[in-house]
Amino acid sequence: MKCSKALKTTLLAILVLDLVAVSHGRLRYSFYNGRCGQHNVEAIIQSIVKNSFTTNPKIVAGLLRLQFHDCAVNGCDASILLDGPDSEKTANPNLSVFGYDLIDQIKVVLEAVCPGVVSCSDIIIAATRDATVLAGLPPFQVQMGRRDSLVSLASNVNLPSPDISVSNAIQFFGSKGLNPFDMVLLLGAHTVGVCHCSVINDRLYNYMGTSKPDPSMNPSYMNVLQNHYCPTGQADNNYVYLDDPSSALSIDNNYYKQLMNNKGILPIDQALTLDGSTRWMVDLLANATDFPSLFTQALVKLGRVEVLTGRRGQIRRNCRRIN
Ligand code: HEM
Repeated sequence: MKCSKALKTTLLAILVLDLVAVSHGRLRYSFYNGRCGQHNVEAIIQSIVKNSFTTNPKIVAGLLRLQFHDCAVNGCDASILLDGPDSEKTANPNLSVFGYDLIDQIKVVLEAVCPGVVSCSDIIIAATRDATVLAGLPPFQVQMGRRDSLVSLASNVNLPSPDISVSNAIQFFGSKGLNPFDMVLLLGAHTVGVCHCSVINDRLYNYMGTSKPDPSMNPSYMNVLQNHYCPTGQADNNYVYLDDPSSALSIDNNYYKQLMNNKGILPIDQALTLDGSTRWMVDLLANATDFPSLFTQALVKLGRVEVLTGRRGQIRRNCRRIN
């Protein structure tokens, strides 16, 4: 009797564990091996990303931002890809996000070889990994098995604004399971890419309503920004590199060096050195040789935020709409 009770308890425990595994599932390395006939899913994605990168290296910035804006809003569930009048991509911070066409292109090829198998959310993660490796990161593995959301609402997009304080940013990243060091590493994505002048015009010309530039910015760099990149009265689509222009297409620690020289572009970039809780991290990374490998670890962590696995969500046939 005693033995049978113990057995029952064990069986119940196994069942519960199994249910947990089914309903929440787990991400796995080589998840798609054997699931797409003879085809190597990750190799297919890699070759399409490589072709795109050859003609447009800016795709690295596009995909990094796309991954962040997807994962930071209800998790890495490809909700940002859904079309619709009030979907996430229509929200203000997402209006300058790009890379959607490349995800579509990959999806079409994968649907042709194994329909309904590879999720759009996994494609975002794998494509971003491949692009970042082409831009200077050491090769790294990512786990797969994410599924796609059924919902995408602009009203869910509460991404941090460029003038968020460091403590609020830490809180935001913390709510996604990312610690302050992950945050400082992930902001290192600003080592590639640009910012539109409209985002920083206040810093350049009217800091906090003073009609003067932000005094925390390096004065000679301020001159360059005002005279070369973002002169007054220029079109709104003028832009400035978030990193030293000479290394703006490669993923390296120059971004942190720029910050230590008071050449941060976004208020939150520069704030990382103005706040004692993060300044030491920036200093460390500005002098580190292993930023690229640390960045891969933070990116992997970002890719695991609130994923849908097991039976939750679906594998969309078309990344822009639910099945
Ligand atoms: C507190 C957090 C963050 C804020 C407030 C922020 C804000 C911004 C803003 C305002 C821009 C300029 C957009 C434009 O003018 O078009 C930008 C660009 C960018 N952000 Fe962030 N960001 C944050 C974190 C991140 C993270 C975690 C990543 C990726 C892991 C990321 C990747 C990028 C990239 C790659 C660009 C350049 C995009 C391009 O060249 O088109 N950002 N960010």
